[in-house]
Amino acid sequence: MKIVVLAGGLSPERDVSLSSASLIANALLSEGHEVALVDVYEGIESLIDLEGSFARPNSGHQFEYVVPDKAPDLDELIHKNSGRKALVGPKVIEICTLADVVFIGLHGAMGENGQLQALLDCFAIPYTGTGYCGSLLAMDKDLSKKLLRQAGIPTADWIMLDRDSDSKSAIINSIGFPCVIKPIHCGSSVGISIVEEPESLLSALDEAFKYESQVLAEKKIVGREFSVGVLDGTTLPAIEIIPKQGFYDYKNKYQKGMATEICPAPVSEEQARRLSEYTMAAHQALRLGAYARIDFILGQDGEFYCLEANTLPGMTPTSLLPQEAAAVGISYNELCDRIVKTAFQEKLN
Ligand SMILES: Nc1ncnc2c1ncn2[C@@H]1O[C@H](COP(=O)(O)OP(=O)(O)O)[C@@H](O)[C@H]1O
Ligand SMILES: [Mg+2]
Repeated sequence: MKIVVLAGGLSPERDVSLSSASLIANALLSEGHEVALVDVYEGIESLIDLEGSFARPNSGHQFEYVVPDKAPDLDELIHKNSGRKALVGPKVIEICTLADVVFIGLHGAMGENGQLQALLDCFAIPYTGTGYCGSLLAMDKDLSKKLLRQAGIPTADWIMLDRDSDSKSAIINSIGFPCVIKPIHCGSSVGISIVEEPESLLSALDEAFKYESQVLAEKKIVGREFSVGVLDGTTLPAIEIIPKQGFYDYKNKYQKGMATEICPAPVSEEQARRLSEYTMAAHQALRLGAYARIDFILGQDGEFYCLEANTLPGMTPTSLLPQEAAAVGISYNELCDRIVKTAFQEKLN
């Protein structure tokens, strides 16, 4: 098949995306596909032949992207592109229409909130994973918690906060302390703080409101953390995540050796079954697609509380979902291949 892997974008997570998308692109090449890796924001230079942009299998071509040691300067990137604010660069749609399937290798905002999926739908271009509606629902932590509750899936009590109102009283009168403050549309634990006592609330709010104006406060669930992947309508074995220090924050997620990950997670058969049931129910309630990953914490009352759903879970070979796939004998290359084939199959149906 001919595949365009879309990555990068005008997002603070663009470098992480380009780096993991190169690994996905190489996996697809090894599986015999023709692959083009395209930065959705930068697009393709006008003189480049689009057909010639696809690397062929067995040509010895390898994609590589080294993540710079400083965060990307998005203003500089916009400046380099003549001040263009449009999120989709030149010829991106054109090259996508040449592909049998587009692999969405983006992280954060545009790839995750449904915008890109809706755009591809308008051009009848098949793409991997969740559609625009599920992407939007899963990206909004307030909306998704409402839907999870409605579907009978436990999720921690929460309230929405207003920048100007008295958050402290609102929290004391509802969920109490300790609580977790989070912006509702971020990922990678960005802007999230665990607030153990009221005195630390102010700095947590400042941090969260830095990222967006919609912030929630959620009851802190004390207990073990798990994540469960879904692939082609079934759950993968759960993985347990044990950060060496603190919670599963940005540093513990992306720096090597900061968290221990055990897959399959050491839980009882009954617990594994319950995790799997909640995951499938969440998958349905949030209208997720062929692959996704759902996060949980096991509370001290023995209940699993769903934190959120991820429609673009990390996809490096050592990320959580690929580790879960490996536990049932699906290699990283096979996993990437299956995700693409399912998307192609959906187009035929
Ligand atoms: N209610 C909670 N109780 C305890 N820990 C939490 C809670 N909510 C979030 N966390 C911690 O913060 C991390 C990130 O939260 P999550 O809701 O999954 O957001 P993100 O989209 O940033 O991954 C979780 O993996 C967990 O370690
Ligand atoms: Mg999470």
